[in-house]
Amino acid sequence: MHRKPSWILVSTFLSLSFLTACAQNSGKSKDAEGHQWWQHAVFYEIYPRSFADSNNDGIGDLKGITSKLNYLKDLGVDAIWISPCFPSPQVDFGYDVSDYENIDPMYGTLADFDVLASEAKKRGIHIILDFVVNHTSDQHKWFLDSKSSRTSEHRDWYVWRDGKGPGHPPNNWNSDFGGSAWKFDPTTNQYYYHYFYVQQPDLNWRNPAVKDAMFDVTRWWYQRGVSGFRLDAVDTLFEDPNLRDNPVTGGTNPYGDPYEEKIYTTKLPEVHDVLRGLRKVTDQYNGVLIGETWTANIAELNKYYGESNNELQLPMDFLFTTVNKLSPAEFRKQIAAVDAASGWPTFVISNHDIVRSYDRYGDGQHNDQIAKLMAGLYLTLRGTPILYYGEEIGMKTTPPTRKEEVKDPIGRTGWPKEKSRDGERTPMQWNESANAGFSTAASWLPVPPTAATHNVADESKDPDSVLAFYKKVLKLRHANRALLDGTYVPLNENDQNVLSYLRSYKDQVVLVALNMSGAEQKINFEMSQHGFSTTKSLVATGTSSAKGDVVTLEPYGVFIGQLSK
Ligand code: GLC
Ligand code: CA
Repeated sequence: MHRKPSWILVSTFLSLSFLTACAQNSGKSKDAEGHQWWQHAVFYEIYPRSFADSNNDGIGDLKGITSKLNYLKDLGVDAIWISPCFPSPQVDFGYDVSDYENIDPMYGTLADFDVLASEAKKRGIHIILDFVVNHTSDQHKWFLDSKSSRTSEHRDWYVWRDGKGPGHPPNNWNSDFGGSAWKFDPTTNQYYYHYFYVQQPDLNWRNPAVKDAMFDVTRWWYQRGVSGFRLDAVDTLFEDPNLRDNPVTGGTNPYGDPYEEKIYTTKLPEVHDVLRGLRKVTDQYNGVLIGETWTANIAELNKYYGESNNELQLPMDFLFTTVNKLSPAEFRKQIAAVDAASGWPTFVISNHDIVRSYDRYGDGQHNDQIAKLMAGLYLTLRGTPILYYGEEIGMKTTPPTRKEEVKDPIGRTGWPKEKSRDGERTPMQWNESANAGFSTAASWLPVPPTAATHNVADESKDPDSVLAFYKKVLKLRHANRALLDGTYVPLNENDQNVLSYLRSYKDQVVLVALNMSGAEQKINFEMSQHGFSTTKSLVATGTSSAKGDVVTLEPYGVFIGQLSK
């Protein structure tokens, strides 16, 4: 099968790439190419409960993370984003924060954090904390004071309203996690608003005191050595002050609530004022802001970069995670869209809220090959990749099979339609021993049976493992200027089996070819007609290789090669 490539003049892209690089970076500490540290860094999300348990109580902790820094360095990680490790009643496993400036005792102490920060720094690894900006825990001292009386100092730090009458909340807004978003509090006979669980009251960002206190939290952590924040649920900071009902769109969600178009509870324009302010603080520390931005299209994503790239540096493009099948056409569309966005792209394929990529793309037979294929994709694009722990060893989503086993509350409210997020939060699989080397005690979520075949110890010894492939691609990515800075040039845009593109930087051109089909593919890229005489394999799976102009890809194969004149 030979197909004609659609080459576009690489030289045009070279000059464009330079201009884009200049326009995108107005901050400090740029490298010679105008790029800042976070543009070349590989980020890695750690769900601290599930990464490594140093004191063997079945729950991961900060000392556990510190003990694995060498592993992360060796893997090729430059920054770790730690999901919330602050004091919390753990209703939403840390996303209900009761003190922003401390560490939950189950994860350790501030002293443990300082050790982690300094050990990470020695290895050149940045620390990003998860900043839960929309809400606190109902046990936070601000909320305890707020609910104590209508005249308390913190009353207006949260969103309190009268109901429409006895038993009737102020309007129809539903919580994302089921039921009304309003909770009646008998102490003061008013309702408070919570976009998520009842135990997660929304902060009132219209109150300048809230803004000041929250901005100060980031200063406090920057001074303690962190390099930035992932902003949780940033779409939800503001609500319509007139409390207009959200339009109901028909049908009911897994919790039995009517579907709503959340036009009055998400993405209000006021959020951008907050982001610009937070960015100013961030720039004083050369930090980075990553956003949990659930946008419906690139126009919405662009708003989060800010009109002059003065809001989030790395708003996550979840549209990429909505491609749930190996479709070159779909990926091409999403890559092209984010590549043309107004800021630097961020690529995510899994996290603690969504089914792992191993299951979303795997066909049940070639999952390991497909896991390598996905690595070949999101680690070679122009932009910053964020890896989710365990993806590099091919961890599988293992959801609970019975409602009684569910830990994540949405799985109990929504069972069986919503089986919870437990499946993608299982303990990291370090070795074959009991509890996968995560802990000597029974772990808070069961270790999946696949730990016997997919674990760090075994995969480190196997040159053909998913882990070995991740390491190879990440090593290449760090050393290869075209992969770091080059433009993205799509090739063969009508090919239904193979996704291929160039990454082109000055006279360096890298070809990436990814076979998304279960059949061998041979493609004549006609490099010689474009003045390239050789194609050197940089990283490839199995028998995938290049000969002359023809690249042969095994089923689900990856070929990454350097083109030379
Ligand atoms: C974000 C987090 C999710 C959490 C929610 C509420 O979506 O990623 O895990 O439950 O915010 O804080
Ligand atoms: Ca522990």
